[in-house]
Formats: sequence, structure tokens, C-alpha cells
Amino acid sequence: MCGIVGYTGPREAGPILIEGLRRLEYRGYDSAGIALVDEEGVLFVEKKAGKLGNLTTALAERTPHAAMGLAHTRWATHGRPNDLNAHPHGDCTGDITVIHNGIIENFRELRDGLEARGHRLVSETDTEALAHLVEEAYEGDLADAVRAALRRVEGAYAIVVMHRAERGRLVGARQDVPLVVGRNGEESFIASDVAAVLAHTNRIIFLEEGDVADVRPTGVLITDVEGVVRERPETLIDWSPEVAEKGGYEHFMLKEIHEQPTALRQALAGRVGRDERVHVPEIEALLPVLRTITRIELVACGTASYAAQVGAAALEAWTGLPARVTVGSEFRYSPPPLDARTLVIAVTQSGETADTIAPTRLARERGCPIIAVTNTVGSAITREAAAVLFLQAGPEIAVAASKTFVTQVTTLVILAAAIGRLRGSMSDEQELELGRALHALPDAAQRALDANAPRAEGLARRYVNSRGFMFVGRGATYPAALEGALKLKEISYVHAEGYPAGELKHGPISLLDADCPLVAIATRSSTYDKLISNVMEGRARDARVIAVATEGDTHIERYADDVAWVPETHEAISSVLAIIPLQLFAYHMAIARGTDVDQPRNLAKSVTVE
Ligand code: M6R
Repeated sequence: MCGIVGYTGPREAGPILIEGLRRLEYRGYDSAGIALVDEEGVLFVEKKAGKLGNLTTALAERTPHAAMGLAHTRWATHGRPNDLNAHPHGDCTGDITVIHNGIIENFRELRDGLEARGHRLVSETDTEALAHLVEEAYEGDLADAVRAALRRVEGAYAIVVMHRAERGRLVGARQDVPLVVGRNGEESFIASDVAAVLAHTNRIIFLEEGDVADVRPTGVLITDVEGVVRERPETLIDWSPEVAEKGGYEHFMLKEIHEQPTALRQALAGRVGRDERVHVPEIEALLPVLRTITRIELVACGTASYAAQVGAAALEAWTGLPARVTVGSEFRYSPPPLDARTLVIAVTQSGETADTIAPTRLARERGCPIIAVTNTVGSAITREAAAVLFLQAGPEIAVAASKTFVTQVTTLVILAAAIGRLRGSMSDEQELELGRALHALPDAAQRALDANAPRAEGLARRYVNSRGFMFVGRGATYPAALEGALKLKEISYVHAEGYPAGELKHGPISLLDADCPLVAIATRSSTYDKLISNVMEGRARDARVIAVATEGDTHIERYADDVAWVPETHEAISSVLAIIPLQLFAYHMAIARGTDVDQPRNLAKSVTVE
């Protein structure tokens, strides 16, 4: 969740690194730091607690000329977020500098040993121990020293290390935390995320677990920690740098909400053809296994787990097999029965969520076939899976997921239909009905945006002083209630609960009153009438009602104070459209309350620690 960027080449490193940090700030933002080595081999380090602006102010006019450097934005795991604990960290000699993302699990033991051997560690971080380990191992070759140091380390890391006497050389390494190398003529980059370097190059090498990259301006040599050379392909990334920028919107989240029709189009590309049938070539190698599975387990966290709930319902409906969602942190320590006939589907937009990766690994070790659904090419989850379905949604910068939720739902529903067809448990008519709805989905999402974007600000203003919110749905609309509540709480810091509407009367109804509105996902569905009864129960307790309803519903206005309209669609994908007004509502509630929409407090985009 921290951001890493390094540069070596003929240009000024300082501005390149700061610009890279700016693009990475969403990954971690409690402090930031930079280290540069000038032509004379003099090391310059500046680091500051708080947002990147604090660092840039501190740097002001005094950034030295340097052609090599590294920089970091931090999301604290060990030690408070202050200037001292900010990265980079150094060794006793002042020659070696390290930045790190992840957690060194045996750092206590390493630190005690280092101190006993006379090293002086000044911060509370686990990272600093790494700098001293490299110092101990250093005999004139930085890459050798890093490899030797890493052989003593347990944990998850992406690191970049430099030695001020070895100009032009950066050494990076990854274990369970992402790190990429970018190449462009006479210059090289190393970063935690492609977005940090896309402005300079789209030639990317995704490092894999255990890789150590010896990066120089003109090339990179990749080995394992023993020094055995590893070949890694260079990938041409077609995301333009502009795609990762705000594109005229005030916040990344708003831009990403508006990108959803495009993201859906991309997610459907190659999967739903003009014939309105579903195609998932990615699972071809698994076809014999998919014919013999007896159960399906989905594992995911947060928003991805709500998308997975939609997927599980579709899988059960179209395969006839039991399908269940377990959040990663529970799955890991209380796993369901797992065997070669249990299909495990891991859903994670980042592909780096530790709570999702660990259970997936466990399932793989127990012989389960694994399918990953992720947005991130080269991410850790892709190495755990026999088949990977990419969301194809483009980079999502805002911490709060939006376009990755709708593309996760869509991709999972397509996967469910493909497995259903393969097993002969989904009929031709069912497939065609779904295919038609999927085909129309991007345009329908655009209509939902057009209808709700102009009204969302006013809606938020009317409800901004509410004490809390109760989101309810039933059946297919329940996951949208959960996601709507999560969106609201994570960015506006207003308490919100998501409940199956029928559960209201079993407890949460006691919270409802004039200050706690009910948000009902009342799109047309097989349980619509039941849901309306639950809405009436809420109204009888003075709760104001915001309903998300299907265009043309002539009844709903009788029961709701405000209605957000969305187009009609197939029930299995109704959450894709229902969530759009709720995302906009959460966004404008956050704006009205003055919170930091793209970087909400206490959260990070990619949660790579347990
Ligand atoms: O990258 P992942 O999809 O694995 O992330 C899972 C959750 O951490 C994530 O969805 C989180 O709940 C977001 N903040 C939701 O907006």
C-alpha cells in the first residue's frame, strides 16, 4: 500500500520522482520521502510526515541535481507516521538507502541482532533493519549485498536500494508485494505501480515473487535471491498516462464513476459477442475440471466480496451447484472443506490483497482449481490461478472502488453463465436473455449516470445531516445495498448499514427514525412486493425513504420521499445499475461533509498486509 518509485538515467531525477509519487499517493499517504545521489556521490535525503505537499514544500528550491534517486509514500505499519519513520531509511555508514512496501515479519529478531552487533537504528520501522542488513553484506556489489540480506528476511516486501558510490544503479526486489521496472532508451524506472512511470514509458517488466532486479540506465538484470538469472518478458501497456489522471473531474472517484459505461464495454469485449452468447476463452484449459466440480467457493474482501455475492447467486442459479462467498480474512483461518472438486474463485481488483491471496494459496495447495478475477495484470493473484479473467476496467485510482465493482459483477456473471452452459445446466434461452441484457448494459449504465448525476448533489444536501443510514435490498439487490452502505461510510464517514430488507424487523428497525433514512434498492425483481412491505415498515417509524427504482415503476413514488431511477435490466446484473446512483450519492455526501474523497482517512487502495 506504500508507493515506490526510482529513477536512473540522464535526466533530473528529482522532478521525475516527485511526479511519480504524485501518481502513487493513493497507495499510502501518511508521509513521503526522497533520496537523491548527485554527480559527486553526495546523498541528499528529505522526508516529511503528512501528504506529499509537505515534502514538496520542504524541498522547495533545494533539490540537488541528480541523475539517480528513489522516493516513497508511506502508509504506516510499523511505527507512527512521522518524519523519522518516513522512508527512505539508511544504514550506519550513510552509503545505503532503502525504500520498502510490505512487512518484514522477523524484523524484531533482525533488529535485536543488528543492535547487538553495534548497529544504531534510529526509527521504529521494520524497513530500517533492511538497510543495515545490506550494509553488513556489502562487499562492493550492491546487488550481491541485497540478495544476501534478503536471504535473512522473512515477510512480504517490494524494496528499492541504492548505494551512493554505485552511481546509476538501483536494486529492487519483490516478494508478495508488487514492483515493476520501466525501460525507455537510456533510462530506467522502478515502481510499485505502472501508473507511476506511464508518463515516461509503457515498456514494463512485471517482477515476480523472489525476483531481484539490478537496474541500470541501459538495462536490467533479473535474478533470484541466489543470483540465478531469471528471464522476464517486457510488456507493452496500452494505458495512456491520461487514463490515470482525473480527466477534468474534481476527483478520481467521480471520474471513475463516469467511466463505468466504458469500463463495462471493455469488460464485455471478447466475452459477449454480437451473437449475444457468452465466451470465456480464459477457462478453456479448465473445461474438464469444470465439468466435474461439486462446489464453488468465492473468496474476496470488501467491495469485491459484495460483487462475489452476485456471482455466487448466478453460479448457483445456472450451475445448480452450491456456491458461497467467504471474506478472505475468515477463509484463511476457518477454511471450508477444500478438494480437487471445489472450484475456488478469488475476486480482487488489485490482485494484491493479502487477505485474499493467502486463502487462495491455501486452496491451491489443497488441490482446488483456482480462477482469479482481477483488474491488475501481473498482480500476485494471477500467479495463484489456473485461469485469470481480467476486468479490463483500466486503472482505478480512488480508494473507493466504483468501476471495479461493476466490472467484477459483470465478469462474474459471465463466468457463471459460461460454466452453466458448459455443464448443460443453463438453457439456450437463459443464455440469450442474459447476453442481450449484457450487450445493452454499457448504454444502460450511461442512462443511469445521465439521469442521476445532475440530481445527486441536491439529494445529498437534503440528507447530509442524517445521523445514519439503513440500506436494504432483497435477493439480487441485497449486494447493492451492502456496497451502497460501504461507499457512504468509507468516503463520507457517516454510519451506514446494509441489510437484507426482511431482516429489518429482527433488530435494526429500532434504529429507524426521522434522522435515520432508509435507502431501499427497489428495482424490479422477483421480491419487489416483499421489499415494498419492508419499506412500509420503515416509513411507519418516520424514516424518510430514498428508493432506487426501475424506470417506469408507477408505484414507487407513493412509498418513497426521493427516487433514483435506473433502466430495466436482467435481475442477475441489476446491482450494476442500482449502484450508480448510490455511488453518486456517497460522493456528494462526502463533498457536502468536506471529507477527502479520493484518499479517505485510515484506508489504502491496496491492502497488502494481513
Ligand atoms: O483490491 P481488492 O479488490 O482485493 O480490495 C478489496 C477491498 O479492500 C476493497 O474493495 C475495499 O473494500 C475498497 N475500499 C472498497 O471501496
